[in-house]
Amino acid sequence: MRQSEAKSRIERLRKEIKEYEYYYRVLNKPVISDFEFDLLLNELDTLEKKFPEFITEDSPTRRVGSDLTKEFRQFEHKYPMLSLGNTYNEEELRDFNARVEKVTGGPVEFVCELKFDGASISITYRNGKFLRAITRGDGTKGDDVSLNVKTIRSIPVKVTGDNIPDEFVMRGEILMPRAVFDRLNEERDKEGLPPFANPRNAASGTLKLLDPRIVASRELDCIFYFLLSDDLPHDTHLDNLTEAARWGFRVSENIRLCRSMEEVIIFINHWESERKKLPFDIDGVVIKVNSLTLQEELGFTAKSPRWAIAYKYKAEQVSTRLLSVSFQVGRTGNVTPVANLEPVFLAGSTVKRATLHNADQIALLGLHLNDIVYVEKGGEIIPKIVGVDQSSRNKNAKKVVFIANCPECGTPLIRNEGEANHFCPNYLHCPPQLKGRIEHFISRKAMDIDGLGEETVDLLFSKNLIRNYADLYELKVEQLVPLERLNKKSAENIIRGIKSSLSVPYSRVLFALGIRHVGETVAKTIAGKFRSIDDLMKADFESLTSVNEIGPKITSSIISFFADADNISIINRLRSYGIRFSEEDTKSPESDKLIGKTILISGVFQKHSREEYKNLIEKHGGKNTTSISGITSFILAGENMGPSKKEKAEEMGVLFISENEFLKIIGEE
Ligand code: IVH
Repeated sequence: MRQSEAKSRIERLRKEIKEYEYYYRVLNKPVISDFEFDLLLNELDTLEKKFPEFITEDSPTRRVGSDLTKEFRQFEHKYPMLSLGNTYNEEELRDFNARVEKVTGGPVEFVCELKFDGASISITYRNGKFLRAITRGDGTKGDDVSLNVKTIRSIPVKVTGDNIPDEFVMRGEILMPRAVFDRLNEERDKEGLPPFANPRNAASGTLKLLDPRIVASRELDCIFYFLLSDDLPHDTHLDNLTEAARWGFRVSENIRLCRSMEEVIIFINHWESERKKLPFDIDGVVIKVNSLTLQEELGFTAKSPRWAIAYKYKAEQVSTRLLSVSFQVGRTGNVTPVANLEPVFLAGSTVKRATLHNADQIALLGLHLNDIVYVEKGGEIIPKIVGVDQSSRNKNAKKVVFIANCPECGTPLIRNEGEANHFCPNYLHCPPQLKGRIEHFISRKAMDIDGLGEETVDLLFSKNLIRNYADLYELKVEQLVPLERLNKKSAENIIRGIKSSLSVPYSRVLFALGIRHVGETVAKTIAGKFRSIDDLMKADFESLTSVNEIGPKITSSIISFFADADNISIINRLRSYGIRFSEEDTKSPESDKLIGKTILISGVFQKHSREEYKNLIEKHGGKNTTSISGITSFILAGENMGPSKKEKAEEMGVLFISENEFLKIIGEE
């Protein structure tokens, strides 16, 4: 590979990996399997080794992915939370062993443990008491989720026993048992909420909930696998873990001390089949050097310890027959091919359909109708086809071809250069696009219109009462009451919901418009730079692409959205109803000095009244709160603060800021 090719491949890989990490860690919605993710990371690592001139400090190969969210207070990890090197085969395990032996000068003892697939947690104990629980975050600092973690019964808040260091950290994995996960998804389905993709996402999503009562109801569990302290009781990993178990920590009973790689491999093979019998998901085995002295000698790379490695199991696969391929048109016109399969049982459920992603994927697989295909469940709910058994193909089998016309409206499909997806350009008349856009517009993260759901949109659409989202604002109660499934009360509810959506802020309105490639995050970025929709409509290619995170793909899509006369007329109608089309309408803060800060005002003040301080907080982008919780950033403390509040704040380690300090922060003094 030439240098220039390597450079652009490296950049592309980094961008993709960061995007996948964001989906996985922050949104808890993985879009590719761990295996595919590791393949990308490996490719990047190999390229960086070959072309070290392109290594950057922030490359995903150098750092641990981040799951930091804005809602929690953050704390630094006393001992950084690193990740583990991964391998999927025995040969690499033997290489690992060889690397270890080269440093240690001979065979070593390994501890084999199950690799629990949940959310990692780091809990500090001081004087035998639970002090704080922090998520992995970016490896250096993490979110304080103590209140949530304290609801987990298997986690002790106080420990007793011998040899307990004054301060120590327990690391473990927070898990959701599969049975609880299945129940939770059933409930979510009934409530019309999207299901969690797997127990791992459900566990880490639950950990980040803002209401500990809901966390408590989710029956999480925790298994500990690592004790850290400046003052450890023993000099091997296994002895320390065993000691921690005596203090009251839940440590796995499936740990084995191995004296050779052969023994390690026996452990791995045993659990590859036995894992199905466990109440939790595991995704591999962790192999650790037992002696702490040798661990220290081996040391760390930038990202992971040299004394441990994870052997990961590949996702389960089955083979079945491809019956047909259908094509689905989404709300943005994207056409997704879906494989209809002979039903087959895979990893806990019956699979009838699998996604084929796009035309490239079909071509890559060389798919023919009636093929025997291999299906795999990755991190996501919808399984996918990962291979084809060419040998069993019938000579006359028909090749699967991507359709040329939209299956819904017949319009010829388009595929833009550099994009993987085909889409239907009949933006204004293709029914699933029309309906899909309205459904997106009313959805929770967009205009959040109460009382309206997909079914009602379907109904209103079929009765020709709405054709686009601007039509919603002209609906009248009298038009809705006669419709089946609706009555006066629900009709009034719908109209009230529509009215109150007029106060939704500009950035969410931008997201609600459903411009291709403009998701929630991009909409926020755009709203921050182009403070009104008029500014945005005037923006040219250069000024749009000069914004960080906005590339040519998003830019072209925005420009063509506003070049469409019908879109402009819809926007003008929305404007006439009073929708917020600028940051000003949204009462944007005058400064961002307190953005992301949740502040509690308490006590009596000299220079401003409490009400004035409340307004000042909002003016500078902060949020007011009336109770102390894990998300309180600090307390603006005046004189004579209530003693119980003070005590609670001190207990939780929340910072106190005086009146004068606060005025300094916002630049008033
Ligand atoms: S030890 C420095 N042991 O796997 C070594 N990790 O990339 C620290 N995990 O997110 C990890 N089971 O939360 C270790 N028995 C086990 C584990 C385990 C699951 C997770 C851990 C981390 C990831 C490692």
